This record gives sequence, C-alpha cells and structure tokens, in this order.
Amino acid sequence: MASSSAKGKAPANGNATNLPYELPWVEKYRPHALDDIVGNTETIERLKVIAKDGNCPHIIISVGPPKHPFFARLMARPKGMPGIGKTTSIHCLAHQLLGDAYKEGVLELNASDERGIDVVRNKIKAFAQKKVTLPPGRHKIVILDEADSMTPGAQQALRRTMEIYANTTRFALACNMSNKIIEPIQSRCAILRYAKLRDTEILKRLLEICEMEKVQYNDDGLTALIFTSEGDMRQAINNLQSTNSGFSFVSGDNVFKVCDQPHPIIVQSIIRACLKSNIDDAMDKLNELWDQGYSAVDIIVTIFRVVKTFDEMPEYTKLEYIKEIGWTHMRILEGVGTLIQLGGLMARLCKMNMKPELFKV
Ligand SMILES: Nc1ncnc2c1ncn2[C@@H]1O[C@H](COP(=O)(O)OP(=O)(O)OP(=O)(O)O)[C@@H](O)[C@H]1O
Ligand SMILES: [Mg+2]
Repeated sequence: MASSSAKGKAPANGNATNLPYELPWVEKYRPHALDDIVGNTETIERLKVIAKDGNCPHIIISVGPPKHPFFARLMARPKGMPGIGKTTSIHCLAHQLLGDAYKEGVLELNASDERGIDVVRNKIKAFAQKKVTLPPGRHKIVILDEADSMTPGAQQALRRTMEIYANTTRFALACNMSNKIIEPIQSRCAILRYAKLRDTEILKRLLEICEMEKVQYNDDGLTALIFTSEGDMRQAINNLQSTNSGFSFVSGDNVFKVCDQPHPIIVQSIIRACLKSNIDDAMDKLNELWDQGYSAVDIIVTIFRVVKTFDEMPEYTKLEYIKEIGWTHMRILEGVGTLIQLGGLMARLCKMNMKPELFKV
C-alpha cells in the first residue's frame, strides 16, 4: 500500500498555515489494486483472472449467499452490507484493465447521478458508440454503482444496449440488493457475491493502517473496533480515525465512547447476573445503561451480539436465551421500546436457570 499512503497529502494549496490537509482514512487507504483488497478471496481471485485475461464479461457485484431456489422463497435477501469493497473492486478492476486509458474508457454513474431512461438512451448509448483507443483486447467499461437504485424502466432500457454494444462496451454493476436488478439484466451478467468481512480480515487492514498512521492502540481497542463495525470495513476505519483523533489512543473504552454503543462489558455482566438468576444485579446494570441514554434497540442488539459470542454458558441455555432475545427484539421493533420490555426479558432470562418447582403454587 505504499502507493496509496502518498495520496493522503494534498498539494500545497497556498493555505496560510500550510497544514497538510488529511483525507478521511477510508479514502486515503482505499485500495488501488485488486491485490490490496482483503477478504472474499475467491471472488477477488476471479476478478484478478478477468483483469489478466482482459475479456471482462458484464458483471454484477452483489452481496449475500448464492440464490438457492428453495431458500430464495423462504428468506428475504440481506438488506445490505455496506463498506465491504464492492465499489472499490470495480474501480480496481477497471484500472487494471485499462491502465492509462481509464479516463476515456470508463463511464461511471452512481446513485448521485441522474440515471433515468433518458440517461440510458443518451449518455450511456453515446458512450458506447464513442470511439476510444484502448489497449488491445480491452473494452470500454460502464460502471453503474448502486445499481439497485435504478428504476426498472431504466434497467429495461439497458437490456438491448448491453447486447448491441457488447463487442466494445462491458457493464459492471454494484448493488446491495440483487433482487432490485431485473431478471433480464441478471441473466446477461456474471454475478459475483461478496460476504461480510471476517474479523481477522478487518484486523489485518486495521493493523496496516495503525502502522502507517503510527496509531497508539491496545488489543482491547482493536477488538472493540471489530465488534462495533459488524463486518463493515468502512465503519471500522472511520471509527479508528475518530477514536485516534479524539483520544490519541485506541482503547476499548475510547472506542465505545466514540461509537456511542453500550459497552459489551456491562452487557456481559448483565448476562452473568441472569445466569445466576440474580435479577437485582441484572436490573441495576440495565438501569445503568438506560440512564446513559441508550435506546432499547441499542441495548437489545448489543445483548444479542454479546450472547452470540459468550462462552460461559452451555449451548442449550444460549439457544434459549437467543430465542427470548429475538422475541423481545421483535416487540421493540414493533414500537414497544420501553424499559419494562427489557426488564421482562431480564426476568425471563433469570427464570430459565431456576428450578421449575419454585414456581409451583
Ligand atoms: N475488502 C476491503 N479491503 C480493503 N479496504 C476496504 C475493503 N472494503 C472496504 N474497504 C474500505 O472501505 C471503504 C469503502 O469501500 P467501498 O466503497 O468499496 O464499499 P462498498 O462495498 O461499495 O459499500 P457501499 O455498499 O456502501 O457502497 C474503502 O475506501 C476502503 O478504504
Ligand atoms: Mg459502493
């Protein structure tokens, strides 16, 4: 990543103080080559092969597991996985394919651009017809980022364009919800699916950035960054930068202050109290979180995530806990986000470890 680290400094801009201005780290450390992208190894390998061979098919980069006819009916597609490298990979691919010809050879449109039928009819068609000198065997590329926000009408208008100009122009789409892309477009494209980044993959990148930025950190701080980012690299890097600029030291406490999430250590002590059927302790800790101003959703989401990775309870109890937490989460999302709901959950979790005879009347 030596190439990207130099890009953070802006050219001297005549600013009186002449302070070097800093890009946000997510942009400063946005990978410029497919090799620098972490995670989703198999998919990235496929992209590398395409970049080497040069014959890029129309592609859609989307998220989630492959569509299975049986599960597709049962399960809604995941709503989105931001910050895992979709846009970055498409740009890296285009750069690697076209090199210096990137500027003339690529048309990028994202959700901030007008992308109605007219744009497809005029701008995209005009670009597809344009004559450009490219390296041999390469094609022009139309990047449609956040393609799920294109209207079905505009997507319909793309169908024939994709076919007619396929010998000179290839399309690369990125989206979070592949079900928003109409079937005919899906059938014209190779679909690559990205999964959430693993903790180790995020850690690897964070360590690289910490080293390059000379960030002071401890293990607790990195664990907290990974916990709060939920597989979203953009969030992890942003939180790292905010914590570093706010506190100059990345520790667990500082990260949770910056991210404004309930501290998992407190939530762990709530779960421990529940496991001992100690409702008073559990309620005390719950009140503490509530008084700090966290909403019921913040609290229940953290309780779920803590229980999911909590090793101090038998598997059976964990399953029962997660079931109860799920019910309470549902009620909260239905609008009943009160302390009483959370208190009710505490009571049920405590009761689970008590002998049933105690409740006989
Ligand atoms: N796999 C990755 N490897 C290295 N850096 C990454 C990766 N994924 C994301 N990043 C970092 O996060 C930033 C955002 O990534 P990107 O724009 O590719 O996300 P995205 O998947 O397109 O998200 P969205 O769905 O919100 O558009 C990048 O600038 C980069 O710094
Ligand atoms: Mg994107």
